[in-house]
Amino acid sequence: MTESKRTIIIEDAETEQKEAYVLHQTPPQCAIDLIAFVPLVAGDVVAEPFKGEGAFYDNLPPFVEKKWAEITLGVDYTTLEDYDWVITNPPFRLETGTKRVNSFWYLLDYYSTRARKGIAFLGNDKCFCTLTPRRQKLLRERGWYFTKVVVCNIKKWRGRYFFFILEKKPNSFMEYLPTSY
Ligand SMILES: C[S@@+](CC[C@H](N)C(=O)[O-])C[C@H]1O[C@@H](n2cnc3c(N)ncnc32)[C@H](O)[C@@H]1O
Repeated sequence: MTESKRTIIIEDAETEQKEAYVLHQTPPQCAIDLIAFVPLVAGDVVAEPFKGEGAFYDNLPPFVEKKWAEITLGVDYTTLEDYDWVITNPPFRLETGTKRVNSFWYLLDYYSTRARKGIAFLGNDKCFCTLTPRRQKLLRERGWYFTKVVVCNIKKWRGRYFFFILEKKPNSFMEYLPTSY
């Protein structure tokens, strides 16, 4: 196990099957370099709801107000309120109370009704594939547009990762075709 990964054991309440689940901690320098692409301004309130070891949280610029959550420290992400930006590498899976879900779209949907200015998520190719035309249409209806995608290599994990930045700024950077062929 590298220093950028932690493993926890999750037990499925119904099947009682145990599964090793690797929590990826973003390399701090990668978080620093990615934060530089986020158009934060003085006074912005920034939430890091899945703080982990703090790669993003600890490296946010001094001119923003910061909020954090981290389940292993007893603070669930749902307790955070009132923020302009959410910036994180979210967990790949999430316990929602009723079931465990792949979290990327679940959380994008969640924050698109809560963040005031922007959302910046680090994810992999599988996360990219969850951005279906129907979901992109929903984001647009809520006023959200992708404004930047930063590609990075994190070789300790699976190679290529994508830092998706969304803002409430109409643009045609990412388009979709609503029809299925
Ligand atoms: C993939 S790690 C990333 C940590 C950090 N954001 C980073 O970039 O290094 C995801 C983190 O989310 C935390 N987490 C999972 N479920 C959570 C929840 N319901 N509320 C808050 N934190 C949670 C995990 O414990 C883990 O530290």
